[in-house]
Amino acid sequence: MAIRNVLKVGDSSLRKKSKPVKEFDESLWELLDDMKQTMYENNGMGLAAPQVGVLRRAVVVEVNNAFLELINPEIISKKGEDIEEEGCLSVGNFRGRVKRPYEITIKAFDRYGYPFTLKGEKWLARCICHEVDHLDGVLFIDKSLDKDLYIKKNGQL
Ligand code: NI
Repeated sequence: MAIRNVLKVGDSSLRKKSKPVKEFDESLWELLDDMKQTMYENNGMGLAAPQVGVLRRAVVVEVNNAFLELINPEIISKKGEDIEEEGCLSVGNFRGRVKRPYEITIKAFDRYGYPFTLKGEKWLARCICHEVDHLDGVLFIDKSLDKDLYIKKNGQL
């Protein structure tokens, strides 16, 4: 396992759409292991592959002490609304409020290619939505209710 470099806002890789994972092989497992270690090292709640420069649809999250790997995740239903402050390992110190669904159901695959569905609420739902956004090149600052404050402090997105 190795700690990988986390790309910061301004890096064009963070703005690209990631491609589905097709091979559930050792290089995927190595990527996931490195992402987990990199997330822990940086005290993050989640990390998406494009944040370490790999444009593939893979994310790791840890919410309420439960660690999850989600490959090719798809949000299939959303319920309710919830507003909380988010941060991101690719965005530095800025934290801002984001409106997210309160509850989501997703479809995803595990590292061996087995499909599963998962329901998550509150922080788990939020964290998964945030990471799935990364796979589409979207950062939380794009949709933050405090976007103007971010732009004032940091300039353009
Ligand atoms: Ni993030």
